[in-house]
Amino acid sequence: MSESLELEPGTPPEDDDRPLVAPRRSPPCTLVIFGGGGDLTRRLLVPAIYNLVGAGLLDEAFSIIAVDWSDLDSEGLRRELGDTMRQFVSQRRASASELHEADWHWLSERISFLRGSFDDEQTYRTLASRCGVGNCVFYLAVAARFFGSIVGRLEAAGLTGETETRFRRVVVEKPFGFDLPSARALNAQLRQALDESQIYRIDHYLGKETVQNILALRFSNGFFEPLWNRQNIDHVQITAAETVGVEKRGRFYETTGALRDMVPNHIMQLLAMVAMEAPISFEADAVRDEKSKVLAAVHKLAADDIVRGQYAAGSIAGRAMAGYREEPDVAPDSGTETFVAMKLSIDNWRWSGVPFYLRTGKRLTTRKTEIAIHFKQAPYALFRETPVDKLTPNIMVLQIQPSEGVTMQFSAKVPGPTVKLGGVRMKFDYADWFQEGPSTGYETLIYDCLIGDATLFQRADNIEAGWSVVQPALDSWHEGNGDLHPYAAGRPGPDAADALLARDGRHWLRLNA
Ligand code: BG6
Repeated sequence: MSESLELEPGTPPEDDDRPLVAPRRSPPCTLVIFGGGGDLTRRLLVPAIYNLVGAGLLDEAFSIIAVDWSDLDSEGLRRELGDTMRQFVSQRRASASELHEADWHWLSERISFLRGSFDDEQTYRTLASRCGVGNCVFYLAVAARFFGSIVGRLEAAGLTGETETRFRRVVVEKPFGFDLPSARALNAQLRQALDESQIYRIDHYLGKETVQNILALRFSNGFFEPLWNRQNIDHVQITAAETVGVEKRGRFYETTGALRDMVPNHIMQLLAMVAMEAPISFEADAVRDEKSKVLAAVHKLAADDIVRGQYAAGSIAGRAMAGYREEPDVAPDSGTETFVAMKLSIDNWRWSGVPFYLRTGKRLTTRKTEIAIHFKQAPYALFRETPVDKLTPNIMVLQIQPSEGVTMQFSAKVPGPTVKLGGVRMKFDYADWFQEGPSTGYETLIYDCLIGDATLFQRADNIEAGWSVVQPALDSWHEGNGDLHPYAAGRPGPDAADALLARDGRHWLRLNA
């Protein structure tokens, strides 16, 4: 057997360059995108599908129908998308630095436009004749208020029925509901028209390689899992920090805020990946069962375990930034939070007594999404020159973006005649090792939906479990509790977020470290 230490970057384990499961071409399918003239389609979906073409994963009979109300035709849409794609690849956001014209040609000639209102039955009649009798995925890249009615009309037009020989699936983008009751109502509405197995609720965080890597890391290696529990872990910090503000989304963000926008979905997914028990298999339902279980074990959030903040004017990397209340479509006295930090505990055997601290916000010091597992200190000061409280904390950081990898921090002997300890870091960098081109994260999700693998999609109970965690905070704020702490743009958040950890004798990892 070959020794793993002989591995070279880019070499898969055991010198075997075959993927564990050979990717197969997706079955023939028409992808119908509601909101096909919009931003999501242009920025994320089409570049991801283009990357799938390059990887040879789409069937010859794949096609796209973009449904939208905009004043476009098929020719115009293809031209617009082509221009965007050329811009994207030149900024290296697809997997090459130049557009591969043959791939783009292959894809663009399969794209057509259907002009129509989402509320008009005629749109669905035309769609029914254009879709024919084959497989279809209906992708709802539209505002959440359209979800229920589009699905209802698809069903009324006979477009959602599956048979032995054809699938009909619906992909729903976030936001999925506004709170727990509305998420439940939306789930109920979707399930009137569709079977749960037909619904693919997207959380784009699950398309990120390094998020998927959390499970691989935990469950395909022998040495992490024995340590992954309350005996060895002191606490966990999950950070999703952004430098961007609300950009042009003021209207949406005013009624959403950082908590709804990031926590029940993206951050709960990260928490579930880190904290869940090993599933009995990697079948979609086995994984999703474990996620739901761990989220259901989150202890009810107390009002003083959550802090909210809002960015004021400041500067990031030397550039002056306006405050949130000066942004377009934001009220000058807005009470919407752009930052939230909280302490959660999980009531189960693995995690009892281990706090999970979460923080997310806009206009922070730096862009960084990571999960830091803080291990307990060594039990006593064997090394007299370095008392135990001065030992470098053992931290394993799972870096999700912008740099993707895993870093371990631990103590080592400083070279020299005396036994003195210093902190060192060991780093695995995804890009260096695997040399993969950048991807949008949507490639895996779209491909998985086409082949019918729902593992990376949220089931109804996963969505509701995420909302259940944050609902106590939403209720409490609704009753007027919870101060809104300002922080200057470019800071790591409000001081109150530091106080949340300081009262437990802990501190956040530095954002710009
Ligand atoms: C979206 C939120 O779901 O996720 C945005 O609506 C946020 O407000 C974005 O900026 C963050 O995604 P990413 O992939 O940049 O971390």
